[in-house]
Amino acid sequence: MKTLTSTITYNQKEHSNATTAEIKHFYDEATDDYTFWSKDYNMHFGYYSMRRSNPFYRDTMLNEMNRQVLLRLQLSNDKQTLGDLGCGMGGTMRFLMKQLPLLYTLGVTLSDFQLQEGNKLLKGSKGVIVKENYENTSFKSNSLDGAVAMESFCHSGHSYTTLKEAYRILKPGKRLVITDAFLKKDPSLLCLGSKMSYEGLCKKWSLDGLGVIHQVEKNLKEIGFSSVVVEDISLKVAPSVLHVPFAIPLFLIKQFFKNKKVREQSWNNLIASFYSLTAGLHRNAFGYYIITAEK
Ligand SMILES: C[S@@+](CC[C@H](N)C(=O)[O-])C[C@H]1O[C@@H](n2cnc3c(N)ncnc32)[C@H](O)[C@@H]1O
Repeated sequence: MKTLTSTITYNQKEHSNATTAEIKHFYDEATDDYTFWSKDYNMHFGYYSMRRSNPFYRDTMLNEMNRQVLLRLQLSNDKQTLGDLGCGMGGTMRFLMKQLPLLYTLGVTLSDFQLQEGNKLLKGSKGVIVKENYENTSFKSNSLDGAVAMESFCHSGHSYTTLKEAYRILKPGKRLVITDAFLKKDPSLLCLGSKMSYEGLCKKWSLDGLGVIHQVEKNLKEIGFSSVVVEDISLKVAPSVLHVPFAIPLFLIKQFFKNKKVREQSWNNLIASFYSLTAGLHRNAFGYYIITAEK
Protein backbone atom coordinates (compact mmCIF):
# COMPACT_ATOMS: atom_id res chain seq x y z
CA MET A 1 0.00 0.00 0.00
CA LYS A 2 2.81 2.39 0.94
CA THR A 3 4.69 2.06 -2.35
CA LEU A 4 1.53 2.90 -4.24
CA THR A 5 0.83 6.05 -2.29
CA SER A 6 4.32 7.44 -1.70
CA THR A 7 4.82 9.28 -4.99
CA ILE A 8 1.57 11.15 -5.23
CA THR A 9 1.30 13.88 -7.77
CA TYR A 10 -1.71 16.10 -8.18
CA ASN A 11 -2.35 17.13 -11.72
CA GLN A 12 -4.50 20.10 -12.48
CA LYS A 13 -6.39 19.62 -15.75
CA GLU A 14 -8.94 22.06 -17.01
CA HIS A 15 -12.21 20.89 -18.57
CA SER A 16 -14.60 23.07 -20.47
CA ASN A 17 -17.54 22.65 -18.06
CA ALA A 18 -16.03 21.63 -14.74
CA THR A 19 -12.47 22.38 -13.66
CA THR A 20 -10.73 20.28 -11.04
CA ALA A 21 -10.73 23.40 -8.82
CA GLU A 22 -14.54 23.66 -9.12
CA ILE A 23 -15.00 19.95 -8.38
CA LYS A 24 -12.72 20.21 -5.34
CA HIS A 25 -14.56 23.32 -4.09
CA PHE A 26 -17.94 21.62 -4.57
CA TYR A 27 -16.98 18.52 -2.53
CA ASP A 28 -15.06 20.45 0.13
CA GLU A 29 -18.26 22.38 0.90
CA ALA A 30 -21.06 19.94 0.13
CA THR A 31 -19.73 16.52 1.29
CA ASP A 32 -20.89 17.09 4.86
CA ASP A 33 -24.51 17.25 3.64
CA TYR A 34 -24.37 13.65 2.44
CA THR A 35 -24.67 12.35 6.02
CA PHE A 36 -28.29 13.31 5.52
CA TRP A 37 -28.52 11.19 2.34
CA SER A 38 -26.74 8.17 3.79
CA LYS A 39 -25.61 7.31 7.29
CA ASP A 40 -22.97 5.06 5.68
CA TYR A 41 -21.78 8.06 3.60
CA ASN A 42 -22.69 6.49 0.27
CA MET A 43 -22.61 9.37 -2.22
CA HIS A 44 -24.52 7.60 -5.00
CA PHE A 45 -28.01 6.40 -5.93
CA GLY A 46 -29.23 2.97 -4.92
CA TYR A 47 -30.19 -0.35 -6.49
CA TYR A 48 -33.59 -1.74 -5.59
CA SER A 49 -33.75 -5.50 -5.16
CA MET A 50 -37.03 -6.93 -3.95
CA ARG A 51 -35.25 -9.50 -1.78
CA ARG A 52 -32.42 -7.38 -0.42
CA SER A 53 -33.56 -3.80 -0.10
CA ASN A 54 -36.46 -1.84 1.30
CA PRO A 55 -37.62 1.07 -0.91
CA PHE A 56 -38.40 3.11 2.22
CA TYR A 57 -34.90 2.67 3.72
CA ARG A 58 -32.50 4.48 1.41
CA ASP A 59 -29.29 2.99 2.78
CA THR A 60 -30.46 -0.56 2.04
CA MET A 61 -30.64 0.44 -1.65
CA LEU A 62 -27.37 2.42 -1.60
CA ASN A 63 -25.54 -0.53 -0.06
CA GLU A 64 -27.20 -2.91 -2.50
CA MET A 65 -25.57 -0.86 -5.28
CA ASN A 66 -22.20 -1.50 -3.57
CA ARG A 67 -23.03 -5.22 -3.49
CA GLN A 68 -23.97 -5.26 -7.18
CA VAL A 69 -20.58 -3.71 -7.94
CA LEU A 70 -18.82 -6.30 -5.78
CA LEU A 71 -20.55 -9.15 -7.66
CA ARG A 72 -19.31 -7.81 -11.00
CA LEU A 73 -15.72 -7.22 -9.82
CA GLN A 74 -15.29 -10.98 -9.28
CA LEU A 75 -12.59 -10.50 -6.65
CA SER A 76 -11.21 -13.51 -4.82
CA ASN A 77 -10.80 -13.93 -1.06
CA ASP A 78 -7.00 -13.51 -1.30
CA LYS A 79 -4.98 -10.37 -0.58
CA GLN A 80 -5.93 -8.00 -3.38
CA THR A 81 -5.87 -4.26 -4.01
CA LEU A 82 -8.86 -2.37 -5.34
CA GLY A 83 -8.86 1.22 -6.56
CA ASP A 84 -11.90 3.43 -6.00
CA LEU A 85 -11.53 6.12 -8.66
CA GLY A 86 -13.52 9.01 -7.17
CA CYS A 87 -14.12 7.52 -3.74
CA GLY A 88 -16.03 10.22 -1.86
CA MET A 89 -15.91 9.45 1.86
CA GLY A 90 -14.91 5.83 1.23
CA GLY A 91 -18.41 4.39 1.78
CA THR A 92 -17.94 1.80 -0.96
CA MET A 93 -14.39 1.00 0.22
CA ARG A 94 -15.64 0.28 3.74
CA PHE A 95 -18.50 -1.87 2.40
CA LEU A 96 -16.18 -3.94 0.19
CA MET A 97 -13.57 -4.47 2.93
CA LYS A 98 -16.29 -5.69 5.27
CA GLN A 99 -17.26 -8.35 2.71
CA LEU A 100 -13.66 -9.31 1.87
CA PRO A 101 -11.49 -8.99 5.01
CA LEU A 102 -8.19 -9.44 3.11
CA LEU A 103 -8.94 -6.68 0.61
CA TYR A 104 -6.84 -3.49 0.47
CA THR A 105 -8.57 -0.43 -0.94
CA LEU A 106 -7.07 2.74 -2.31
CA GLY A 107 -9.44 5.64 -2.93
CA VAL A 108 -8.73 8.76 -4.94
CA THR A 109 -10.43 12.10 -4.60
CA LEU A 110 -9.83 15.76 -5.43
CA SER A 111 -11.33 16.99 -2.17
CA ASP A 112 -9.26 17.87 0.91
CA PHE A 113 -12.35 17.46 3.09
CA GLN A 114 -12.82 13.89 1.84
CA LEU A 115 -9.11 13.19 2.22
CA GLN A 116 -9.10 14.22 5.89
CA GLU A 117 -12.52 13.12 7.08
CA GLY A 118 -12.73 10.02 4.87
CA ASN A 119 -9.40 8.77 6.18
CA LYS A 120 -10.66 9.24 9.76
CA LEU A 121 -13.54 6.87 8.95
CA LEU A 122 -11.05 4.38 7.47
CA LYS A 123 -8.72 4.43 10.48
CA GLY A 124 -7.66 0.93 11.50
CA SER A 125 -8.79 -0.59 8.20
CA LYS A 126 -6.86 -1.66 5.10
CA GLY A 127 -8.10 1.36 3.20
CA VAL A 128 -6.60 4.76 2.51
CA ILE A 129 -7.75 7.80 0.54
CA VAL A 130 -5.21 9.82 -1.44
CA LYS A 131 -5.53 13.11 -3.25
CA GLU A 132 -5.03 12.30 -6.90
CA ASN A 133 -6.62 12.99 -10.25
CA TYR A 134 -8.08 9.77 -11.65
CA GLU A 135 -7.22 10.97 -15.15
CA ASN A 136 -3.52 10.75 -14.41
CA THR A 137 -2.63 8.84 -11.24
CA SER A 138 0.80 7.96 -9.88
CA PHE A 139 -0.21 4.30 -9.58
CA LYS A 140 2.02 1.75 -11.28
CA SER A 141 0.77 0.16 -14.49
CA ASN A 142 -0.85 -3.28 -14.00
CA SER A 143 -1.07 -2.80 -10.22
CA LEU A 144 -4.77 -3.12 -9.29
CA ASP A 145 -6.93 -6.22 -8.92
CA GLY A 146 -10.07 -4.23 -9.56
CA ALA A 147 -11.31 -0.68 -9.98
CA VAL A 148 -14.64 1.00 -9.34
CA ALA A 149 -16.00 4.36 -10.44
CA MET A 150 -19.37 5.11 -8.90
CA GLU A 151 -20.86 8.40 -10.09
CA SER A 152 -17.37 9.85 -10.36
CA PHE A 153 -16.27 9.63 -14.02
CA CYS A 154 -19.19 11.94 -14.95
CA HIS A 155 -17.06 14.78 -13.56
CA SER A 156 -14.68 14.25 -16.48
CA GLY A 157 -17.50 13.52 -18.96
CA HIS A 158 -16.52 9.79 -18.96
CA SER A 159 -13.57 10.95 -21.04
CA TYR A 160 -11.32 8.73 -23.13
CA THR A 161 -8.31 9.79 -20.98
CA THR A 162 -10.12 8.69 -17.81
CA LEU A 163 -11.03 5.26 -19.19
CA LYS A 164 -7.50 4.80 -20.56
CA GLU A 165 -5.94 5.58 -17.17
CA ALA A 166 -8.21 3.00 -15.51
CA TYR A 167 -7.06 0.47 -18.13
CA ARG A 168 -3.38 1.28 -17.50
CA ILE A 169 -3.50 0.70 -13.74
CA LEU A 170 -5.54 -2.54 -13.83
CA LYS A 171 -3.79 -5.91 -13.96
CA PRO A 172 -4.57 -7.97 -17.08
CA GLY A 173 -7.73 -10.03 -16.58
CA LYS A 174 -9.05 -7.68 -13.87
CA ARG A 175 -12.21 -5.59 -13.99
CA LEU A 176 -13.40 -2.01 -14.00
CA VAL A 177 -16.99 -1.44 -12.84
CA ILE A 178 -18.66 1.91 -13.53
CA THR A 179 -22.08 2.93 -12.17
CA ASP A 180 -23.41 6.23 -13.46
CA ALA A 181 -25.96 8.14 -15.49
CA PHE A 182 -25.27 8.39 -19.22
CA LEU A 183 -26.85 10.04 -22.23
CA LYS A 184 -28.60 7.85 -24.78
CA LYS A 185 -27.93 10.33 -27.59
CA ASP A 186 -25.62 13.17 -28.50
CA PRO A 187 -26.29 16.34 -26.43
CA SER A 188 -27.06 18.25 -29.66
CA LEU A 189 -30.09 15.95 -30.20
CA LEU A 190 -31.72 16.53 -26.80
CA CYS A 191 -35.20 18.06 -26.66
CA LEU A 192 -35.66 21.34 -24.77
CA GLY A 193 -36.71 19.67 -21.49
CA SER A 194 -33.83 17.15 -21.54
CA LYS A 195 -31.38 19.88 -22.48
CA MET A 196 -32.47 22.05 -19.53
CA SER A 197 -32.15 19.12 -17.11
CA TYR A 198 -28.77 18.18 -18.59
CA GLU A 199 -27.32 21.67 -18.43
CA GLY A 200 -28.64 22.28 -14.91
CA LEU A 201 -27.27 18.94 -13.73
CA CYS A 202 -23.80 19.55 -15.17
CA LYS A 203 -23.57 23.13 -13.93
CA LYS A 204 -24.78 22.52 -10.38
CA TRP A 205 -22.90 19.24 -9.83
CA SER A 206 -19.70 20.43 -11.58
CA LEU A 207 -19.87 17.69 -14.20
CA ASP A 208 -17.94 18.03 -17.43
CA GLY A 209 -20.83 16.13 -19.02
CA LEU A 210 -22.32 12.67 -19.26
CA GLY A 211 -20.86 10.25 -21.78
CA VAL A 212 -23.08 9.00 -24.59
CA ILE A 213 -23.51 5.34 -23.66
CA HIS A 214 -22.77 3.74 -27.06
CA GLN A 215 -19.73 5.99 -27.52
CA VAL A 216 -18.38 5.06 -24.06
CA GLU A 217 -18.85 1.36 -24.88
CA LYS A 218 -16.99 1.88 -28.16
CA ASN A 219 -14.17 3.77 -26.41
CA LEU A 220 -13.72 1.04 -23.80
CA LYS A 221 -13.33 -1.58 -26.55
CA GLU A 222 -10.99 0.65 -28.54
CA ILE A 223 -8.79 1.17 -25.45
CA GLY A 224 -8.45 -2.61 -25.17
CA PHE A 225 -11.08 -3.71 -22.66
CA SER A 226 -12.76 -7.01 -23.49
CA SER A 227 -16.05 -8.50 -22.31
CA VAL A 228 -17.63 -5.06 -22.01
CA VAL A 229 -21.11 -5.53 -20.52
CA VAL A 230 -23.50 -2.57 -20.46
CA GLU A 231 -26.62 -2.97 -18.27
CA ASP A 232 -29.43 -0.41 -18.16
CA ILE A 233 -30.52 -0.39 -14.50
CA SER A 234 -32.61 2.81 -14.64
CA LEU A 235 -35.71 1.13 -13.18
CA LYS A 236 -33.71 -0.39 -10.30
CA VAL A 237 -32.30 3.05 -9.49
CA ALA A 238 -35.63 4.90 -9.76
CA PRO A 239 -36.87 4.10 -6.18
CA SER A 240 -33.82 5.82 -4.67
CA VAL A 241 -34.12 8.80 -7.05
CA LEU A 242 -37.70 9.15 -5.80
CA HIS A 243 -36.30 9.86 -2.33
CA VAL A 244 -34.93 13.20 -3.59
CA PRO A 245 -38.15 15.27 -3.30
CA PHE A 246 -38.62 14.07 0.30
CA ALA A 247 -34.99 14.15 1.43
CA ILE A 248 -34.28 17.71 0.30
CA PRO A 249 -37.10 19.57 2.11
CA LEU A 250 -36.32 17.53 5.26
CA PHE A 251 -32.65 18.52 5.00
CA LEU A 252 -33.61 22.20 4.66
CA ILE A 253 -36.02 22.05 7.59
CA LYS A 254 -33.31 20.45 9.77
CA GLN A 255 -30.78 23.11 8.79
CA PHE A 256 -33.36 25.80 9.63
CA PHE A 257 -34.03 24.40 13.10
CA LYS A 258 -30.31 23.98 13.76
CA ASN A 259 -29.88 27.64 12.75
CA LYS A 260 -27.36 26.52 10.13
CA LYS A 261 -26.76 28.54 6.97
CA VAL A 262 -27.17 26.55 3.73
CA ARG A 263 -23.91 27.16 1.84
CA GLU A 264 -23.67 27.93 -1.87
CA GLN A 265 -22.40 24.46 -2.83
CA SER A 266 -25.12 22.84 -0.72
CA TRP A 267 -27.72 24.79 -2.69
CA ASN A 268 -26.02 23.62 -5.91
CA ASN A 269 -26.17 20.05 -4.65
CA LEU A 270 -29.87 20.34 -3.81
CA ILE A 271 -30.78 21.94 -7.14
CA ALA A 272 -28.75 19.34 -9.07
CA SER A 273 -30.57 16.57 -7.20
CA PHE A 274 -33.87 17.98 -8.47
CA TYR A 275 -32.47 18.08 -12.00
CA SER A 276 -31.54 14.39 -11.64
CA LEU A 277 -35.21 13.75 -10.94
CA THR A 278 -36.38 15.69 -14.02
CA ALA A 279 -33.67 14.02 -16.13
CA GLY A 280 -34.94 10.63 -14.95
CA LEU A 281 -38.34 11.44 -16.46
CA HIS A 282 -36.75 11.77 -19.94
CA ARG A 283 -36.18 8.08 -20.45
CA ASN A 284 -35.35 8.44 -24.14
CA ALA A 285 -32.46 10.79 -23.31
CA PHE A 286 -30.95 9.54 -20.03
CA GLY A 287 -30.29 6.15 -18.50
CA TYR A 288 -28.50 4.80 -15.45
CA TYR A 289 -26.07 2.00 -16.23
CA ILE A 290 -23.61 -0.47 -14.74
CA ILE A 291 -20.71 -1.08 -17.07
CA THR A 292 -18.33 -3.97 -16.47
CA ALA A 293 -15.13 -4.13 -18.52
CA GLU A 294 -12.22 -6.56 -18.30
CA LYS A 295 -8.61 -5.72 -19.14
C1 LIG B 1 -20.61 11.79 -6.26
S1 LIG B 1 -19.06 11.50 -5.52
C2 LIG B 1 -19.12 9.73 -5.49
C3 LIG B 1 -18.27 9.17 -4.40
C4 LIG B 1 -18.26 7.66 -4.26
N1 LIG B 1 -17.92 7.01 -5.49
C5 LIG B 1 -19.58 7.16 -3.76
O1 LIG B 1 -20.35 6.60 -4.56
O2 LIG B 1 -19.87 7.28 -2.55
C6 LIG B 1 -17.85 11.84 -6.79
C7 LIG B 1 -16.41 11.67 -6.36
O3 LIG B 1 -15.56 11.79 -7.52
C8 LIG B 1 -14.39 12.50 -7.15
N2 LIG B 1 -13.76 13.06 -8.35
C9 LIG B 1 -14.33 13.83 -9.31
N3 LIG B 1 -13.43 14.13 -10.27
C10 LIG B 1 -12.26 13.52 -9.90
C11 LIG B 1 -10.96 13.45 -10.48
N4 LIG B 1 -10.67 14.04 -11.63
N5 LIG B 1 -10.02 12.74 -9.83
C12 LIG B 1 -10.29 12.12 -8.64
N6 LIG B 1 -11.51 12.15 -8.06
C13 LIG B 1 -12.48 12.85 -8.68
C14 LIG B 1 -14.88 13.54 -6.17
O4 LIG B 1 -13.79 14.07 -5.43
C15 LIG B 1 -15.86 12.70 -5.37
O5 LIG B 1 -15.16 12.02 -4.36
